[in-house]
Amino acid sequence: MLPSGDGRRVRISVIGTGYLGATHAACLAACGHDVVGVDSDPERVATLSQGRAPFHEPGLADMLLRGVDSGRLTFTSDCARVEDADVHFLCVGTPQKPGSHGADLSALEAAVTALAPYLARPTLVVGKSTVPVGTAARIGDRLCREAPAGDRAGIAWNPEFLREGHAVKDSLHPDRLVFGVRSDEDDLVLREVYAPQIKDGVPVVRTDLATAELAKVSANVMLAARISLVNMLAEVCEASDADVGDLTRILGRDDRIGSKFLNPGVGFGGGCLPKDTRAFVARAEELGVGAAVRVLREIDAINMRQRARTIDKAVSLLGGRVAGRRIAVLGAAFKADSDDVRDSPALDVAATLDARGAAVRLYDPKAMPNAVRAWPGLAGGDGVEDACRDADVVLVLTDWDEFRGIDPVALADVVRHPRVVDGRLVLDPDKWRAAGWDFHALGRGGS
Ligand code: UDX
Repeated sequence: MLPSGDGRRVRISVIGTGYLGATHAACLAACGHDVVGVDSDPERVATLSQGRAPFHEPGLADMLLRGVDSGRLTFTSDCARVEDADVHFLCVGTPQKPGSHGADLSALEAAVTALAPYLARPTLVVGKSTVPVGTAARIGDRLCREAPAGDRAGIAWNPEFLREGHAVKDSLHPDRLVFGVRSDEDDLVLREVYAPQIKDGVPVVRTDLATAELAKVSANVMLAARISLVNMLAEVCEASDADVGDLTRILGRDDRIGSKFLNPGVGFGGGCLPKDTRAFVARAEELGVGAAVRVLREIDAINMRQRARTIDKAVSLLGGRVAGRRIAVLGAAFKADSDDVRDSPALDVAATLDARGAAVRLYDPKAMPNAVRAWPGLAGGDGVEDACRDADVVLVLTDWDEFRGIDPVALADVVRHPRVVDGRLVLDPDKWRAAGWDFHALGRGGS
Protein backbone atom coordinates (compact mmCIF):
# COMPACT_ATOMS: atom_id res chain seq x y z
CA MET A 1 0.00 0.00 0.00
CA LEU A 2 0.96 3.67 -0.03
CA PRO A 3 2.22 5.97 2.72
CA SER A 4 -0.31 8.60 3.77
CA GLY A 5 0.25 11.78 1.79
CA ASP A 6 -0.26 13.88 4.94
CA GLY A 7 -2.15 16.14 2.58
CA ARG A 8 -5.62 17.58 2.49
CA ARG A 9 -8.54 15.22 2.09
CA VAL A 10 -9.80 16.34 -1.33
CA ARG A 11 -13.44 16.04 -2.40
CA ILE A 12 -13.40 14.42 -5.79
CA SER A 13 -15.89 13.29 -8.41
CA VAL A 14 -15.07 10.66 -11.04
CA ILE A 15 -17.31 10.78 -14.11
CA GLY A 16 -17.54 7.39 -15.84
CA THR A 17 -16.89 4.16 -13.93
CA GLY A 18 -15.60 1.77 -16.58
CA TYR A 19 -12.20 0.03 -16.31
CA LEU A 20 -10.48 3.36 -15.86
CA GLY A 21 -12.98 5.28 -13.70
CA ALA A 22 -13.90 2.49 -11.27
CA THR A 23 -10.24 1.74 -10.59
CA HIS A 24 -9.33 5.41 -10.32
CA ALA A 25 -12.21 6.15 -7.92
CA ALA A 26 -11.29 3.22 -5.65
CA CYS A 27 -7.62 4.19 -5.74
CA LEU A 28 -8.37 7.83 -4.80
CA ALA A 29 -10.49 6.66 -1.86
CA ALA A 30 -7.63 4.36 -0.82
CA CYS A 31 -5.42 7.49 -0.83
CA GLY A 32 -7.75 9.03 1.77
CA HIS A 33 -9.92 11.30 -0.41
CA ASP A 34 -13.73 11.59 -0.46
CA VAL A 35 -14.84 10.25 -3.81
CA VAL A 36 -18.14 10.06 -5.64
CA GLY A 37 -18.23 7.99 -8.83
CA VAL A 38 -20.90 8.95 -11.38
CA ASP A 39 -22.20 6.67 -14.10
CA SER A 40 -25.33 6.76 -16.24
CA ASP A 41 -25.73 2.95 -15.91
CA PRO A 42 -27.79 2.29 -12.74
CA GLU A 43 -26.89 -1.41 -12.74
CA ARG A 44 -23.18 -0.58 -12.64
CA VAL A 45 -23.80 1.98 -9.89
CA ALA A 46 -25.66 -0.63 -7.83
CA THR A 47 -22.84 -3.18 -8.25
CA LEU A 48 -20.12 -0.69 -7.34
CA SER A 49 -22.13 0.66 -4.39
CA GLN A 50 -22.02 -2.84 -2.89
CA GLY A 51 -18.24 -2.77 -3.22
CA ARG A 52 -18.28 -5.28 -6.07
CA ALA A 53 -16.23 -5.01 -9.27
CA PRO A 54 -18.35 -5.14 -12.47
CA PHE A 55 -15.46 -6.77 -14.38
CA HIS A 56 -12.53 -9.05 -13.63
CA GLU A 57 -9.60 -7.06 -12.28
CA PRO A 58 -7.31 -8.62 -9.65
CA GLY A 59 -7.42 -6.73 -6.33
CA LEU A 60 -10.09 -4.23 -7.39
CA ALA A 61 -12.99 -5.79 -5.45
CA ASP A 62 -10.98 -5.59 -2.19
CA MET A 63 -10.09 -1.96 -2.75
CA LEU A 64 -13.69 -1.07 -3.71
CA LEU A 65 -15.07 -2.80 -0.64
CA ARG A 66 -12.63 -1.05 1.66
CA GLY A 67 -13.55 2.32 0.12
CA VAL A 68 -17.30 1.75 0.35
CA ASP A 69 -17.05 0.45 3.94
CA SER A 70 -14.96 3.48 4.96
CA GLY A 71 -17.74 5.78 3.71
CA ARG A 72 -15.20 7.65 1.55
CA LEU A 73 -16.34 6.04 -1.69
CA THR A 74 -19.87 6.33 -3.05
CA PHE A 75 -21.45 5.86 -6.47
CA THR A 76 -24.46 7.51 -8.06
CA SER A 77 -26.30 8.13 -11.32
CA ASP A 78 -27.23 11.62 -10.21
CA CYS A 79 -24.76 14.16 -11.58
CA ALA A 80 -25.99 16.77 -9.06
CA ARG A 81 -24.00 14.86 -6.41
CA VAL A 82 -20.76 16.26 -7.87
CA GLU A 83 -21.64 19.76 -6.65
CA ASP A 84 -19.57 19.45 -3.45
CA ALA A 85 -16.44 18.19 -5.17
CA ASP A 86 -13.41 20.41 -5.78
CA VAL A 87 -11.83 18.22 -8.44
CA HIS A 88 -13.65 16.32 -11.18
CA PHE A 89 -12.00 13.53 -13.17
CA LEU A 90 -13.37 12.74 -16.64
CA CYS A 91 -12.97 8.99 -17.15
CA VAL A 92 -15.55 8.12 -19.82
CA GLY A 93 -14.75 5.89 -22.80
CA THR A 94 -13.58 7.24 -26.15
CA PRO A 95 -14.06 4.23 -28.46
CA GLN A 96 -13.44 4.09 -32.20
CA LYS A 97 -16.18 5.91 -34.12
CA PRO A 98 -18.28 3.45 -36.16
CA GLY A 99 -17.30 3.68 -39.83
CA SER A 100 -14.22 5.80 -39.14
CA HIS A 101 -10.78 5.55 -37.57
CA GLY A 102 -11.32 8.63 -35.39
CA ALA A 103 -12.28 8.61 -31.71
CA ASP A 104 -15.93 8.89 -30.71
CA LEU A 105 -16.01 11.74 -28.20
CA SER A 106 -19.78 11.77 -27.70
CA ALA A 107 -19.61 10.32 -24.16
CA LEU A 108 -16.96 12.88 -23.21
CA GLU A 109 -18.94 15.80 -24.62
CA ALA A 110 -22.07 14.50 -22.83
CA ALA A 111 -20.13 14.26 -19.54
CA VAL A 112 -19.03 17.90 -19.87
CA THR A 113 -22.60 18.96 -20.67
CA ALA A 114 -23.88 17.14 -17.57
CA LEU A 115 -21.09 18.40 -15.31
CA ALA A 116 -20.84 22.09 -16.29
CA PRO A 117 -24.05 23.38 -14.58
CA TYR A 118 -22.77 22.08 -11.21
CA LEU A 119 -19.47 23.94 -11.36
CA ALA A 120 -20.40 27.03 -9.38
CA ARG A 121 -17.26 27.38 -7.24
CA PRO A 122 -13.58 27.51 -8.25
CA THR A 123 -12.87 23.96 -9.37
CA LEU A 124 -10.58 21.84 -11.51
CA VAL A 125 -11.82 19.46 -14.19
CA VAL A 126 -9.16 16.86 -14.99
CA GLY A 127 -9.35 14.71 -18.11
CA LYS A 128 -8.08 11.16 -17.91
CA SER A 129 -9.80 9.71 -20.99
CA THR A 130 -7.63 9.10 -24.06
CA VAL A 131 -8.44 11.88 -26.54
CA PRO A 132 -7.22 13.36 -29.82
CA VAL A 133 -4.77 16.19 -29.14
CA GLY A 134 -6.61 19.52 -28.92
CA THR A 135 -9.64 18.15 -27.07
CA ALA A 136 -8.60 19.45 -23.64
CA ALA A 137 -8.31 23.06 -24.80
CA ARG A 138 -11.74 22.80 -26.43
CA ILE A 139 -13.29 21.39 -23.25
CA GLY A 140 -11.62 24.20 -21.28
CA ASP A 141 -13.32 26.77 -23.55
CA ARG A 142 -16.66 25.03 -23.11
CA LEU A 143 -16.33 25.06 -19.31
CA CYS A 144 -15.57 28.79 -19.38
CA ARG A 145 -18.77 29.39 -21.33
CA GLU A 146 -21.08 26.85 -19.69
CA ALA A 147 -20.03 26.62 -16.02
CA PRO A 148 -21.47 29.18 -13.58
CA ALA A 149 -17.88 29.55 -12.25
CA GLY A 150 -16.76 30.69 -15.72
CA ASP A 151 -12.99 30.85 -16.04
CA ARG A 152 -12.60 29.71 -12.42
CA ALA A 153 -13.54 26.24 -13.70
CA GLY A 154 -10.07 25.13 -14.80
CA ILE A 155 -9.02 22.29 -17.07
CA ALA A 156 -6.06 19.94 -16.70
CA TRP A 157 -5.09 16.67 -18.41
CA ASN A 158 -3.71 13.75 -16.43
CA PRO A 159 -3.51 10.67 -18.68
CA GLU A 160 -3.78 7.22 -17.19
CA PHE A 161 -1.42 4.44 -18.26
CA LEU A 162 -2.97 1.55 -16.35
CA ARG A 163 -2.98 -1.90 -17.88
CA GLU A 164 -5.95 -4.21 -17.48
CA GLY A 165 -5.02 -7.05 -15.17
CA HIS A 166 -2.58 -4.76 -13.30
CA ALA A 167 -4.87 -1.77 -12.90
CA VAL A 168 -4.74 -1.56 -9.09
CA LYS A 169 -0.94 -1.68 -8.92
CA ASP A 170 -0.61 0.69 -11.88
CA SER A 171 -2.94 3.21 -10.18
CA LEU A 172 -1.37 3.08 -6.73
CA HIS A 173 2.23 2.84 -7.94
CA PRO A 174 2.40 4.35 -11.43
CA ASP A 175 5.72 4.68 -13.32
CA ARG A 176 5.08 8.40 -13.69
CA LEU A 177 2.40 11.01 -13.21
CA VAL A 178 1.75 13.41 -16.06
CA PHE A 179 0.19 16.78 -15.17
CA GLY A 180 -0.91 18.78 -18.20
CA VAL A 181 -1.76 22.12 -16.58
CA ARG A 182 -2.21 25.80 -17.38
CA SER A 183 -1.15 27.26 -14.01
CA ASP A 184 0.84 26.64 -10.83
CA GLU A 185 -2.46 26.54 -8.87
CA ASP A 186 -3.76 23.66 -11.00
CA ASP A 187 -0.43 21.85 -10.62
CA LEU A 188 -0.72 22.20 -6.83
CA VAL A 189 -4.25 20.78 -6.83
CA LEU A 190 -3.02 17.67 -8.64
CA ARG A 191 -0.07 17.40 -6.24
CA GLU A 192 -2.57 17.32 -3.35
CA VAL A 193 -4.65 14.65 -5.03
CA TYR A 194 -1.59 12.47 -5.67
CA ALA A 195 0.27 13.36 -2.45
CA PRO A 196 0.69 9.68 -1.36
CA GLN A 197 2.15 8.61 -4.72
CA ILE A 198 4.47 11.63 -4.85
CA LYS A 199 5.63 10.92 -1.29
CA ASP A 200 6.27 7.36 -2.41
CA GLY A 201 8.73 8.66 -5.02
CA VAL A 202 6.61 8.55 -8.20
CA PRO A 203 8.08 11.15 -10.59
CA VAL A 204 5.81 13.93 -11.88
CA VAL A 205 6.21 15.38 -15.35
CA ARG A 206 4.53 18.77 -15.60
CA THR A 207 3.66 19.86 -19.09
CA ASP A 208 1.05 21.63 -21.22
CA LEU A 209 -2.39 20.25 -22.09
CA ALA A 210 -1.51 19.13 -25.62
CA THR A 211 1.63 17.20 -24.59
CA ALA A 212 -0.27 15.49 -21.79
CA GLU A 213 -2.97 14.40 -24.24
CA LEU A 214 -0.33 13.12 -26.65
CA ALA A 215 1.54 11.26 -23.88
CA LYS A 216 -1.06 8.53 -23.56
CA VAL A 217 -1.67 7.85 -27.21
CA SER A 218 2.07 8.10 -27.99
CA ALA A 219 2.85 5.45 -25.36
CA ASN A 220 0.25 3.14 -26.86
CA VAL A 221 1.49 3.75 -30.40
CA MET A 222 5.07 2.92 -29.30
CA LEU A 223 3.85 -0.31 -27.68
CA ALA A 224 1.76 -1.24 -30.72
CA ALA A 225 4.73 -0.60 -33.01
CA ARG A 226 6.96 -2.79 -30.90
CA ILE A 227 4.51 -5.70 -30.99
CA SER A 228 4.06 -5.41 -34.75
CA LEU A 229 7.82 -5.23 -35.28
CA VAL A 230 8.30 -8.43 -33.33
CA ASN A 231 5.46 -10.06 -35.27
CA MET A 232 7.14 -8.97 -38.50
CA LEU A 233 10.30 -10.72 -37.28
CA ALA A 234 8.22 -13.78 -36.42
CA GLU A 235 7.02 -14.11 -39.98
CA VAL A 236 10.56 -13.84 -41.30
CA CYS A 237 11.66 -16.46 -38.75
CA GLU A 238 8.98 -18.81 -39.95
CA ALA A 239 9.96 -18.37 -43.58
CA SER A 240 13.63 -18.99 -42.78
CA ASP A 241 13.19 -21.86 -40.32
CA ALA A 242 14.48 -19.70 -37.44
CA ASP A 243 12.93 -19.47 -33.99
CA VAL A 244 11.35 -16.20 -32.85
CA GLY A 245 11.32 -17.38 -29.21
CA ASP A 246 15.11 -17.59 -29.17
CA LEU A 247 15.37 -14.42 -31.24
CA THR A 248 13.38 -12.33 -28.74
CA ARG A 249 15.47 -13.75 -25.89
CA ILE A 250 18.57 -12.53 -27.70
CA LEU A 251 17.05 -9.11 -28.47
CA GLY A 252 15.73 -8.70 -24.94
CA ARG A 253 19.26 -9.05 -23.52
CA ASP A 254 20.20 -5.81 -25.26
CA ASP A 255 19.67 -3.10 -22.63
CA ARG A 256 18.71 -0.62 -25.31
CA ILE A 257 15.90 -2.87 -26.53
CA GLY A 258 14.77 -4.58 -23.31
CA SER A 259 12.63 -7.68 -23.00
CA LYS A 260 9.18 -6.24 -22.26
CA PHE A 261 6.48 -6.17 -24.91
CA LEU A 262 8.48 -8.47 -27.10
CA ASN A 263 6.03 -11.39 -27.17
CA PRO A 264 5.07 -12.37 -30.70
CA GLY A 265 1.83 -14.10 -31.56
CA VAL A 266 -1.69 -13.38 -32.65
CA GLY A 267 -1.19 -9.65 -32.00
CA PHE A 268 -2.52 -6.84 -29.89
CA GLY A 269 -6.17 -6.16 -29.10
CA GLY A 270 -8.23 -4.65 -26.32
CA GLY A 271 -9.88 -1.32 -25.74
CA CYS A 272 -6.74 0.80 -26.23
CA LEU A 273 -3.88 -0.18 -28.55
CA PRO A 274 -5.87 -0.84 -31.75
CA LYS A 275 -8.21 2.14 -31.49
CA ASP A 276 -5.54 4.53 -30.21
CA THR A 277 -3.26 3.69 -33.15
CA ARG A 278 -6.08 4.40 -35.59
CA ALA A 279 -7.26 7.54 -33.80
CA PHE A 280 -3.68 8.87 -33.81
CA VAL A 281 -3.54 8.48 -37.60
CA ALA A 282 -6.94 10.13 -38.02
CA ARG A 283 -5.92 13.10 -35.86
CA ALA A 284 -2.52 13.46 -37.56
CA GLU A 285 -4.30 13.59 -40.92
CA GLU A 286 -6.61 16.33 -39.62
CA LEU A 287 -3.51 18.23 -38.51
CA GLY A 288 -2.00 17.90 -42.00
CA VAL A 289 0.79 15.51 -40.98
CA GLY A 290 -0.73 12.28 -42.32
CA ALA A 291 2.43 11.46 -44.29
CA ALA A 292 4.49 11.43 -41.09
CA VAL A 293 2.38 8.73 -39.48
CA ARG A 294 1.94 6.44 -42.49
CA VAL A 295 3.98 3.75 -40.75
CA LEU A 296 1.16 3.33 -38.23
CA ARG A 297 -1.14 2.04 -40.96
CA GLU A 298 1.39 -0.70 -41.63
CA ILE A 299 1.63 -1.44 -37.89
CA ASP A 300 -2.14 -1.89 -37.79
CA ALA A 301 -2.01 -4.05 -40.95
CA ILE A 302 0.77 -6.29 -39.56
CA ASN A 303 -1.33 -6.71 -36.42
CA MET A 304 -4.47 -7.74 -38.29
CA ARG A 305 -2.34 -10.05 -40.45
CA GLN A 306 -1.49 -12.15 -37.37
CA ARG A 307 -5.14 -13.09 -37.01
CA ALA A 308 -5.35 -14.04 -40.69
CA ARG A 309 -2.10 -16.05 -40.44
CA THR A 310 -3.45 -17.96 -37.45
CA ILE A 311 -6.62 -18.82 -39.33
CA ASP A 312 -4.64 -19.85 -42.44
CA LYS A 313 -2.47 -22.13 -40.33
CA ALA A 314 -5.50 -23.82 -38.78
CA VAL A 315 -7.17 -24.22 -42.17
CA SER A 316 -4.06 -25.68 -43.74
CA LEU A 317 -3.67 -28.14 -40.86
CA LEU A 318 -7.22 -29.25 -41.60
CA GLY A 319 -6.32 -29.89 -45.24
CA GLY A 320 -8.01 -26.71 -46.47
CA ARG A 321 -11.53 -27.60 -45.35
CA VAL A 322 -12.97 -26.23 -42.10
CA ALA A 323 -16.72 -26.76 -42.49
CA GLY A 324 -17.88 -29.15 -39.80
CA ARG A 325 -14.35 -29.66 -38.41
CA ARG A 326 -13.94 -29.40 -34.66
CA ILE A 327 -11.71 -26.55 -33.58
CA ALA A 328 -10.94 -25.91 -29.91
CA VAL A 329 -10.04 -22.29 -29.20
CA LEU A 330 -8.37 -21.72 -25.84
CA GLY A 331 -8.69 -18.06 -24.91
CA ALA A 332 -11.25 -15.37 -25.68
CA ALA A 333 -9.92 -12.41 -23.66
CA PHE A 334 -7.58 -10.01 -25.45
CA LYS A 335 -4.90 -10.94 -22.92
CA ALA A 336 -4.48 -12.97 -19.74
CA ASP A 337 -5.90 -11.80 -16.38
CA SER A 338 -8.73 -9.94 -18.07
CA ASP A 339 -12.30 -10.74 -19.06
CA ASP A 340 -12.25 -8.04 -21.73
CA VAL A 341 -13.00 -9.23 -25.26
CA ARG A 342 -12.98 -5.84 -26.99
CA ASP A 343 -11.11 -6.22 -30.28
CA SER A 344 -9.74 -9.50 -28.97
CA PRO A 345 -7.58 -11.36 -31.52
CA ALA A 346 -8.57 -14.67 -29.90
CA LEU A 347 -12.30 -14.05 -30.19
CA ASP A 348 -11.90 -12.64 -33.68
CA VAL A 349 -10.17 -15.83 -34.85
CA ALA A 350 -12.79 -18.03 -33.12
CA ALA A 351 -15.69 -16.03 -34.60
CA THR A 352 -14.20 -16.06 -38.12
CA LEU A 353 -13.73 -19.83 -38.05
CA ASP A 354 -17.24 -20.25 -36.67
CA ALA A 355 -18.59 -18.07 -39.50
CA ARG A 356 -16.77 -20.31 -41.98
CA GLY A 357 -18.73 -23.29 -40.70
CA ALA A 358 -16.21 -24.87 -38.31
CA ALA A 359 -17.56 -26.48 -35.12
CA VAL A 360 -15.71 -24.13 -32.76
CA ARG A 361 -15.62 -24.81 -29.04
CA LEU A 362 -14.24 -21.94 -27.00
CA TYR A 363 -12.90 -21.83 -23.46
CA ASP A 364 -11.57 -18.92 -21.42
CA PRO A 365 -11.08 -18.92 -17.63
CA LYS A 366 -12.79 -15.52 -17.16
CA ALA A 367 -14.12 -14.11 -20.41
CA MET A 368 -16.77 -16.67 -21.43
CA PRO A 369 -19.82 -14.53 -20.50
CA ASN A 370 -18.46 -11.54 -22.43
CA ALA A 371 -17.41 -13.73 -25.37
CA VAL A 372 -20.82 -15.36 -25.73
CA ARG A 373 -22.52 -11.96 -25.40
CA ALA A 374 -20.31 -10.58 -28.18
CA TRP A 375 -20.69 -13.65 -30.44
CA PRO A 376 -23.86 -15.48 -29.34
CA GLY A 377 -23.47 -18.41 -31.75
CA LEU A 378 -20.22 -19.65 -30.24
CA ALA A 379 -20.23 -22.87 -28.23
CA GLY A 380 -18.42 -22.71 -24.92
CA GLY A 381 -16.55 -25.47 -23.15
CA ASP A 382 -16.50 -25.92 -19.38
CA GLY A 383 -12.75 -26.16 -19.25
CA VAL A 384 -9.71 -26.99 -21.37
CA GLU A 385 -10.55 -30.66 -21.59
CA ASP A 386 -14.20 -30.08 -22.41
CA ALA A 387 -13.37 -27.56 -25.14
CA CYS A 388 -10.77 -29.89 -26.65
CA ARG A 389 -12.83 -33.09 -26.65
CA ASP A 390 -12.64 -34.71 -30.14
CA ALA A 391 -10.97 -31.60 -31.56
CA ASP A 392 -9.30 -31.80 -34.95
CA VAL A 393 -7.05 -28.92 -34.00
CA VAL A 394 -6.43 -26.86 -30.83
CA LEU A 395 -5.62 -23.12 -31.03
CA VAL A 396 -4.11 -21.42 -27.95
CA LEU A 397 -4.81 -17.70 -28.38
CA THR A 398 -4.67 -16.00 -24.96
CA ASP A 399 -1.64 -16.16 -22.66
CA TRP A 400 -3.41 -17.47 -19.54
CA ASP A 401 -1.15 -19.32 -17.07
CA GLU A 402 -3.71 -22.11 -17.06
CA PHE A 403 -2.81 -22.86 -20.68
CA ARG A 404 0.94 -22.84 -19.98
CA GLY A 405 0.28 -25.58 -17.43
CA ILE A 406 -1.68 -27.92 -19.75
CA ASP A 407 -0.38 -31.49 -19.68
CA PRO A 408 0.09 -32.38 -23.37
CA VAL A 409 0.18 -36.12 -22.63
CA ALA A 410 -3.25 -36.09 -20.96
CA LEU A 411 -4.75 -33.73 -23.56
CA ALA A 412 -3.57 -35.95 -26.42
CA ASP A 413 -6.04 -38.60 -25.18
CA VAL A 414 -8.94 -36.16 -25.32
CA VAL A 415 -8.62 -34.76 -28.86
CA ARG A 416 -9.36 -36.57 -32.12
CA HIS A 417 -6.13 -35.37 -33.77
CA PRO A 418 -3.24 -34.05 -31.66
CA ARG A 419 -2.56 -30.85 -33.61
CA VAL A 420 -1.94 -27.56 -31.87
CA VAL A 421 -1.24 -23.97 -32.92
CA ASP A 422 0.38 -21.88 -30.19
CA GLY A 423 -0.67 -18.32 -31.00
CA ARG A 424 0.98 -16.81 -27.90
CA LEU A 425 4.21 -18.75 -27.50
CA VAL A 426 3.08 -20.12 -24.16
CA LEU A 427 3.67 -23.83 -24.82
CA ASP A 428 6.95 -25.75 -24.75
CA PRO A 429 7.37 -27.14 -28.29
CA ASP A 430 9.68 -29.99 -27.22
CA LYS A 431 7.28 -31.19 -24.53
CA TRP A 432 4.29 -31.09 -26.86
CA ARG A 433 6.11 -32.80 -29.72
CA ALA A 434 7.38 -35.47 -27.33
CA ALA A 435 3.76 -36.10 -26.32
CA GLY A 436 2.92 -36.82 -29.96
CA TRP A 437 1.50 -33.46 -30.99
CA ASP A 438 1.85 -31.95 -34.43
CA PHE A 439 3.05 -28.65 -32.99
CA HIS A 440 2.88 -25.26 -34.74
CA ALA A 441 3.49 -21.72 -33.55
CA LEU A 442 3.58 -18.38 -35.29
CA GLY A 443 7.26 -17.58 -35.81
CA ARG A 444 8.76 -20.89 -34.80
CA GLY A 445 10.77 -22.92 -37.25
CA GLY A 446 9.31 -26.28 -38.20
CA SER A 447 5.84 -24.75 -38.18
C1 UDX B 1 -2.59 -0.74 -22.79
C2 UDX B 1 -1.36 0.00 -22.26
O1 UDX B 1 -0.34 -0.97 -21.92
C3 UDX B 1 -1.71 0.83 -21.06
O2 UDX B 1 -0.58 1.58 -20.61
C4 UDX B 1 -2.84 1.77 -21.44
O3 UDX B 1 -3.24 2.53 -20.33
C5 UDX B 1 -4.02 1.01 -22.00
O4 UDX B 1 -3.60 0.20 -23.08
P1 UDX B 1 -3.97 -2.89 -22.02
O5 UDX B 1 -4.92 -2.59 -23.14
O6 UDX B 1 -4.52 -3.24 -20.67
O7 UDX B 1 -3.00 -1.63 -21.75
O8 UDX B 1 -3.07 -4.10 -22.50
P2 UDX B 1 -1.52 -4.37 -22.76
O9 UDX B 1 -0.95 -5.10 -21.63
O10 UDX B 1 -0.83 -3.15 -23.23
O11 UDX B 1 -1.65 -5.39 -23.99
C6 UDX B 1 -2.27 -4.97 -25.20
C7 UDX B 1 -2.32 -6.08 -26.20
O12 UDX B 1 -1.02 -6.35 -26.69
C8 UDX B 1 -2.86 -7.39 -25.66
O13 UDX B 1 -3.72 -7.97 -26.63
C9 UDX B 1 -1.63 -8.24 -25.46
O14 UDX B 1 -1.89 -9.62 -25.55
C10 UDX B 1 -0.77 -7.75 -26.63
N1 UDX B 1 0.67 -7.95 -26.40
C11 UDX B 1 1.29 -7.35 -25.35
C12 UDX B 1 1.41 -8.72 -27.29
O15 UDX B 1 0.86 -9.26 -28.26
N2 UDX B 1 2.75 -8.86 -27.09
C13 UDX B 1 3.40 -8.30 -26.04
O16 UDX B 1 4.62 -8.47 -25.92
C14 UDX B 1 2.65 -7.50 -25.15
